[in-house]
Amino acid sequence: MSRKKLLMGNWKMNLTIAEANAFCEDVKAASLVRQARQRGIMIGVAPAFIALQSVRKHAHGLIVASQDCHYADHGAYTSNVSIPMLQEIGVDWSIIGHSERRQYEGETSFTCNRKIKALVKQQFHVIYCVGETAKEYDQGLTKDVIREQVVTGLMGLSKDDMQYLVIAYEPVWSIGTGKNASVEIAEDICSYIRSLINELFGKVASQKVQILYGGSVKPNNIHDYCQAPDVDGALVGGASLKSESFKELLENM
Ligand code: PGA
Repeated sequence: MSRKKLLMGNWKMNLTIAEANAFCEDVKAASLVRQARQRGIMIGVAPAFIALQSVRKHAHGLIVASQDCHYADHGAYTSNVSIPMLQEIGVDWSIIGHSERRQYEGETSFTCNRKIKALVKQQFHVIYCVGETAKEYDQGLTKDVIREQVVTGLMGLSKDDMQYLVIAYEPVWSIGTGKNASVEIAEDICSYIRSLINELFGKVASQKVQILYGGSVKPNNIHDYCQAPDVDGALVGGASLKSESFKELLENM
């Protein structure tokens, strides 16, 4: 089964509204969305909450994702943003469980699960991030950690719900460090994730689900990842912040 490739920029706490708008204008001027469509590649960005609405307006066909959301529709959850708020501005993609949220904000696979269930109910596309820390990697625990994150994060979802899921394998030790995982490691773990999806949701879901690699992906290494049979694209932080580099990522996929 052929799956579309996906290039998703995770801007984290970078790019002001003005900077984000300028990025969108560059993307438009370079006809990146058209180029991507012609090659059957999906492309998008995940701006900070404050820039979401503006990027959505200037996106010119780019997928626009939030970097997180809350599972409740509304309520006393200071600083959070709900799914209806995202819907109101036309956003229907969200990253969930990024390791920086797990590390700094106490996000667990259980809270991810609540969010994912709320999102798929509203037909949002979800990029669910999983990945082991350096210590876990050194201890040979990678697959145990990934299994727990996948099983818990996707608990209670149906086969049908899986159409909304993208999984991103991001080893924590490779994020923002320049120490990207080898293509062999990326393929090994992405194919392991696919086998877990097969176990949990059946063969069709496992063949359809897009699985991304993330962690120090750059224009000069994205091609190698995209050649791996179970890697369907990349979630990119640092190298997605400048339109020129984003363009090179797409060109080299
Ligand atoms: P990086 O970040 O590309 O800067 O390593 C990846 C990510 O955190 O998604």
